[in-house]
Amino acid sequence: MIVNTGKTKEKIMAQTKEKTVYVCSSCGAVFDKWSGKCRECGEWNTLEEEIRKPASPKNERIAPASDGTQKSMRLSQIPAGYTDGIRIKTGIGELDRALGGGIVKSSVILISGEPGIGKSTLLLQLAGSCCENGGGRKILYVSGEESAAQIKLRAQRLGVQNETLFLLCESDVDAILAEVDLIDPDILIIDSVQTVFDRSVSSSSGSISQVKQISQLFIARTKSSSMATVLVGHVNKDGAIAGPKLLEHMVDVVLHFEGDRTRSYRIVRAAKNRFGSTNEIGVFEMTGEGLEEVSDPSMRLIEDSPKNVPGNCPVCVMEGTRPIIAEVQALVSKTPFPTPKRIGNGTDFNRMAIILAILEKRLGLRLYDKDVYVNVTGGLRLDETSTDLGIAAAVLSAATEKPVPSDMIAIGELGLSGECRAVPGIESRIAEALRMGFGRILVPYRSIGKIKIRDADGKLFPVRSVFNLGEYLG
Ligand code: TYD
Ligand code: MG
Repeated sequence: MIVNTGKTKEKIMAQTKEKTVYVCSSCGAVFDKWSGKCRECGEWNTLEEEIRKPASPKNERIAPASDGTQKSMRLSQIPAGYTDGIRIKTGIGELDRALGGGIVKSSVILISGEPGIGKSTLLLQLAGSCCENGGGRKILYVSGEESAAQIKLRAQRLGVQNETLFLLCESDVDAILAEVDLIDPDILIIDSVQTVFDRSVSSSSGSISQVKQISQLFIARTKSSSMATVLVGHVNKDGAIAGPKLLEHMVDVVLHFEGDRTRSYRIVRAAKNRFGSTNEIGVFEMTGEGLEEVSDPSMRLIEDSPKNVPGNCPVCVMEGTRPIIAEVQALVSKTPFPTPKRIGNGTDFNRMAIILAILEKRLGLRLYDKDVYVNVTGGLRLDETSTDLGIAAAVLSAATEKPVPSDMIAIGELGLSGECRAVPGIESRIAEALRMGFGRILVPYRSIGKIKIRDADGKLFPVRSVFNLGEYLG
């Protein structure tokens, strides 16, 4: 005989009631009580309140009855033509490059960036260009931030006008999904995921649980069709994507839209790409008519650099397979204060400190009573050690007031004893320098035997260590 005790009744009650839990936004661990630190991953201040609805009987897992047929396929059985037409070219070359060749159907792209960097502008341009070049592809652009009139105004300025571009100003996810079913677009753009909300989740829009829920709904909808979805994500004050870290795991591609808002250059960089390399970047310039592609960044970055001014030295960095020439500028000025300033903009601060120490120790350059400022023009960030020699040359030139010759470029890494070390991709860097008309290319001594570019004859100058650097200035 079954005795219905009070205890079982309590248990049944608990299952039918809503429950408050605390979810870690970093690792996704669930706790009953709030605490300042996640006991699972050790992160601080990541626990967020979440209301859990009781599971409806519909959600219960039912083991599928196997019909005895094999569902998996051999890789070789998948026909070669299976992948044809899987990528949608956006028509914006620089964006296609960052995406690895275009938007893949049934994929979800998350694009993040600081406010005002140009995310909405880029996506509206993408929408316009996809409609034009993709043979009338249907795009549904959903904005939770701007009104139709505001978007129309922007579209007029950008010259976007297409019959297959649909606008929807809506924040309710159910209404958006209903519209998606109705229109059946090739690309769905959600601007932004933080403004969309789901009524069934009690927290306000933009909260961790809302963002997670919304993204899951869009991801599920995208994966079940051939539609591709682009989600715009806000960033928090540290520059990370606002919302759960899980979001980045769930989507297929994460693009960061970077650049200084006060400068015109913008860089689209893939942080994750399931269908391509994350090495490639796309370069844009913000103009009065929207974002313009910069297909020759080296040219743009050095075209207005002053000639024969002490403290300037061009360097060459590799962004994926693409060499880009940028200019490092240094300023060295005497300071009356006991602790001199060291300021680096666009360079790695620790790397800069090492280079200054090498110059002080190995060359005896007196910098301890001087402020040193190092700046990379165009808002570019140089995180590569191949720029060491260029930074050293710029600082040395600024300190000694001897200019770097206008046709000189420096490529090489510095070791702590002041030796100049080889860097990868030296041939592509040299080819780019030659293309840009540099006549004196400083290269690491060890690399010189490996270079087989004929045009480079007489233009390569091997550098053994920082001791040689002074010979080339003035
Ligand atoms: P926006 O795309 O709205 O940024 P986000 O969606 O990332 O917040 O706009 C970015 C900035 O670009 C805005 O401050 C104004 C500027 N802008 C132009 O300079 N030219 C243009 O044609 C447009 C549309 C915007
Ligand atoms: Mg916007």
